Amino acid sequence: MERRDCDAMVLFGVTGDLAYRKIMPALYQLARRNVLTVPVVGVARQGWNLQQLTARVAESLKTFVPNADPAVVQRLIALLRYVDGDYNDRATFQALRSALGEAQRPLHYLAVPPSMFAVVVQHLSETGNTQGARVVVEKPFGHDLASARALNECLHRHFPEASIFRIDHYLGKEAVQNLLYFRFANSFLEPVWNRNFVSSVQVTMAESIGIAGRGRFYEETGAIRDVIQNHLLQIVALLTLEPPTLAEGEALRDEKVKVLRATRPLDPRELLRGQYRGYRDEEGVAADSTVETYAALALHIDSWRWSGVPFYLRAGKRLPVTATEVVVELRRPPADVFGSHGPELPNYLRFRLGPDVAIALGAHTKRPGPVMAGRDVELFVAQQQGEDMDAYEVLISAALIGDTAHFAREDEVEAAWRIVDPVLRGAAPPGEYQQGTWGPANAEDLIKGPCGWHNPGAHAPDWTRSCAR
Ligand code: BG6
Repeated sequence: MERRDCDAMVLFGVTGDLAYRKIMPALYQLARRNVLTVPVVGVARQGWNLQQLTARVAESLKTFVPNADPAVVQRLIALLRYVDGDYNDRATFQALRSALGEAQRPLHYLAVPPSMFAVVVQHLSETGNTQGARVVVEKPFGHDLASARALNECLHRHFPEASIFRIDHYLGKEAVQNLLYFRFANSFLEPVWNRNFVSSVQVTMAESIGIAGRGRFYEETGAIRDVIQNHLLQIVALLTLEPPTLAEGEALRDEKVKVLRATRPLDPRELLRGQYRGYRDEEGVAADSTVETYAALALHIDSWRWSGVPFYLRAGKRLPVTATEVVVELRRPPADVFGSHGPELPNYLRFRLGPDVAIALGAHTKRPGPVMAGRDVELFVAQQQGEDMDAYEVLISAALIGDTAHFAREDEVEAAWRIVDPVLRGAAPPGEYQQGTWGPANAEDLIKGPCGWHNPGAHAPDWTRSCAR
């Protein structure tokens, strides 16, 4: 990768929630590590001034960065500029051009509603703000396959693909990057990593929180568009792609696209949607909303390696815990050497992707004593409390130097939309579920096999019982 650093950062939507919760704390960490030394120009249409922006940054850091170093806070504040104006008004972008001064290679970060992307890039282009620039686009990237294609076309009118950075913050997570590292830095995995040894794969993204005040956003999104089309399919792609020649640049993204293209579009008969009781009372939610806050589905990859292996994915709000986990279940030994004393659980690999991080191997050993009976053990390959660096910190620093590897490429987002597109419209109404439960009762019916869903626990797996049913 040829490194070419940006010489300014422009943050559209600087007064918004994403900037407040995620981007400002990430900028602080980048300033602390001396990665961010260029001007940061905030843009919004709030009628604010620089002083108000400074106060907002200070408040964000007070809330999200306990023990922030006052000297670093001052360093970050000294980098701030502010341009106020309407995104529909060309004058806003002319003002931005002057605020950028000598900068020739700005990074434009669009932390604005997707409906504003097209108008912002159009104005950037017409006011001389796209030459030598890069653009970071937040998810959701489009609303379906057709709108994602239209958005790609729109961006390509003003930016080459190498200058477009489509955010999926899961790609910046240490634990998600570790999937790739663990798969290809070790040779012991390769012989079993295929249809001959893997019987099924489950990916669960459970959140105990609800929609956290984002009713209006969620009504247009739902669980499938919000997290399955992007975060969960990215996890599946990293679990299943063929070895890239290099873990960086286009080689990795090429392999992701190949496996996503080999994935069958979803069959509505293998999808179950749910909505937690009380969702319709949330602010911004329609009283008769049919938007799903939970979805579970089966996915099939028609490739040499994965043909016949079901991938079960589910994501939901207001579930019992917040945890993202992958369980790769291996086939049982070919003969039952220990008869009724043989293990009940199959071997498995468990990747805990958040909030804490772990890679564990489920195995069986003999229980001490005269009987040839066993016990289940879990061997931890890696374990840590949480992420060292927030995903936004990782991704913004990559965008500043032009490293696209952990961003979604044009064909990648389109391939992912192609998979979910058949179930985005006209689906059956979601089944209701109680808050704090594992979704609608019939979610178990989706899974073929003896063990059912493997529910992650708050800290450890919580599913040995469900396997014995
Ligand atoms: C976002 C979704 O992309 O990811 C949210 O819009 C979700 O609905 C969030 O809560 C989860 O991210 P994380 O990093 O907390 O797992």
